[in-house]
Amino acid sequence: KHCFSKPSDGFLYCEDVKVQDVMEAVERRPFYLYSKRQITRNVEAYKEALVGLDSVIGYAIKANNNLKILEHLRGLGCGAVLVSGNELRLALHAGFDPTKCIFNGNGKLLEDLVLAAQEGVFVNVDSEFDLDNIIKAAKLAGKKVNVLLRINPDVDPQVHPYVATGNKNSKFGIRNEKLQWFLDAVKAHPDELKLVGAHCHLGSTITKVDIFKDAAVLMVNYIDIIREQGFEIGYLNIGGGLGIDYYHTGAILPTPRDLIDTVRELVLSRSLKLIIEPGRSLIANTCCFVNRVTGVKTNGTKNFIVIDGSMAELIRPSLYGAYQHIELTSPPPPAAEVTTFDVVGPVCESADFLGKDRELATPDQGAGLVVHDAGAYCMSMASTYNLKMRPPEYWVEEDGSIKKIRHGETFEDHLRFFEGL
Ligand code: LLP
Repeated sequence: KHCFSKPSDGFLYCEDVKVQDVMEAVERRPFYLYSKRQITRNVEAYKEALVGLDSVIGYAIKANNNLKILEHLRGLGCGAVLVSGNELRLALHAGFDPTKCIFNGNGKLLEDLVLAAQEGVFVNVDSEFDLDNIIKAAKLAGKKVNVLLRINPDVDPQVHPYVATGNKNSKFGIRNEKLQWFLDAVKAHPDELKLVGAHCHLGSTITKVDIFKDAAVLMVNYIDIIREQGFEIGYLNIGGGLGIDYYHTGAILPTPRDLIDTVRELVLSRSLKLIIEPGRSLIANTCCFVNRVTGVKTNGTKNFIVIDGSMAELIRPSLYGAYQHIELTSPPPPAAEVTTFDVVGPVCESADFLGKDRELATPDQGAGLVVHDAGAYCMSMASTYNLKMRPPEYWVEEDGSIKKIRHGETFEDHLRFFEGL
């Protein structure tokens, strides 16, 4: 079961709640609407896939950093993957078990590494200077740091270049020809470092699990090499990156189970613990970005639906040319013509579109229009461009009630940056 559905009455529902009714109940537009239950379902899918493996689900906080959502994910047993000091602070604030947290990144700051060392979170080593900083942080904190080597396996994830990370020319991780240097450096610092595992992350929106298999084969091989040198490493971290069905075409895409099954034997063959770092596949499909139609217009050969949301709240279409499915929340007016529209916002840029060339019934002014799969990398990438303040977030609770889970940003919030200056 999926949380958003449109039964024969032609209205869009989130679980058993009409999205239209939520629009009438909430005071601001646009807004993000989640299903709490869908978040649970998505975590359960991973947990079921992982049965029989010693594992950690490290939720990638960058995908969505809503504190209420983080607390829910923590309650379901997830760990967290962090890429900045503030994400680390937020994970700790949300109560994540530090031993289920992994601090990633190619530019981690010394002060943040000190916090990571103090709290006992796992740290991924990304480069020579990063290792240097981790050693310094261990000394400053007076703690030994559990580290994983982030190996760049040079596997092509076959995705948009902006979200590919495991190719040899990417800025992330350590290339294999340098592996020995890092092993020697770790050996030279037994008081500061404990090597516990190897990590890779290939990229995001990956829709073929063979790609993960190819990487896991290489990674297990590196783990063999590392173990031969006397390191007792126990963790294989295969990163995140599983894609989702953004197109809503009913195409069969790999599930968490397909992903885990493709690496299961390899993991078991070396008695490894498996860490995964899903972001999108846990949270994207739990949310719609809900808008109202401001008006409809035609210029040249193009028809436009202008909505209140924009690239400021949801930048993925503009930034990656990403497709996110769009539909109206209520049945179209009786004689409404179905036409090809670009769905655009009010922001002063031609890059401000949420969807191009979409077949939609001509909506009335004020009609509801949603952008689907908006739970990952939408709110967390939102800006206040054109002073479009960041929208509020709501979720449908298990009992069907609507709950605000984040306040919308206000004009007064903006003025606060200048107080006392
Ligand atoms: N682990 C690492 C080291 C990562 O860099 C990422 C995402 C993840 C895990 C989670 O990947 P996921 O399961 O969510 O694919 N803003 C882009 C996506 C950027 C992904 C960055 N790294 C988008 O909107 O598509």
